[in-house]
Amino acid sequence: MITVTCWCMCSLLCPQCHINSALACFHDALELASDQREIQHVCLYEIGWCSMIEMNFEDAYRSFERLKNESRWSQCYYAYLTGVCQGASGDLDGATGVFKDVQKLFKRKNNQIEQFAVKRADRLRKISPTRELCILGVIEVLYLWKALPNCSSSKLQIMNQVLQSVDEASCRGLKHLLLGAIHKCHGNMRDAVQSFQLAARDDYGRQINSYIQPYAVYELGCILLAQPETVGKGRSLLLQAKEDFTGYDFENRLHVRIHSALASLKEVVPQ
Ligand SMILES: *[C@@H]1O[C@H](CO)[C@@H](O)[C@H](O)[C@H]1NC(C)=O
Ligand SMILES: *[C@@H]1O[C@H](CO)[C@@H](O)[C@H](O)[C@H]1NC(C)=O
Repeated sequence: MITVTCWCMCSLLCPQCHINSALACFHDALELASDQREIQHVCLYEIGWCSMIEMNFEDAYRSFERLKNESRWSQCYYAYLTGVCQGASGDLDGATGVFKDVQKLFKRKNNQIEQFAVKRADRLRKISPTRELCILGVIEVLYLWKALPNCSSSKLQIMNQVLQSVDEASCRGLKHLLLGAIHKCHGNMRDAVQSFQLAARDDYGRQINSYIQPYAVYELGCILLAQPETVGKGRSLLLQAKEDFTGYDFENRLHVRIHSALASLKEVVPQ
């Protein structure tokens, strides 16, 4: 009972900018809930995410590692999160070992998150992971799960620097997409547009990162949609993102976002 209440309080703290108090709270709840596995797993999940947002990669990977070992939900996905966080913390040998487990733990063949985890883990193993590429992997997950706006401005600044230093050609499009998202969080729309344009134009990585182009076109559309003088252009980019691409990762998720962006437009300009 006490632990449930504590867990609710922690969740309330987490979305606001009290991430450190939420983290301390979840650590307490985790100890108190030693005989309640499900609650422990919720706490571990929250600690993992808050730690990624804080770029505290060591805490993040320890939480995800326990979930990878114990969770019944998706050990494959947790293995991938463990791997990128472990690599981001500097333990590249450990990360490489965990990336091998991702394939072994791939159970739900139709699950798009597990498919994504397997593809990414294989890729990182083949190009042999560096710390920067693993941090890029963490930032990508934060972007896809819409958690970048939860990151503080100083953490976003560090992410920006790490991304600038990534030189791997096959990740170029992804790098620009993520840089665009970070500029957008900073309210720096001109640089955001430039980065999203570079991401949308990147043909090299298209086979590996097929979702980059439609997502970049969508992001551009959203920025243009927000300015009265470019609403029409924004709208046509959103339609392009919806109609010109197919068969990429997280396609449904993007369609939902496009739909709600277009719906919000109709509220403002009745048609
Ligand atoms: C991020 O912020 C959103 C909006 O404030 C909130 O709903 C969400 O729970 C936050 N996520 C985390 C992991 O802090
Ligand atoms: C997870 O399992 C591995 C292999 O059994 C073990 O070496 C590791 O210590 C475990 N980690 C945690 C955090 O439980």
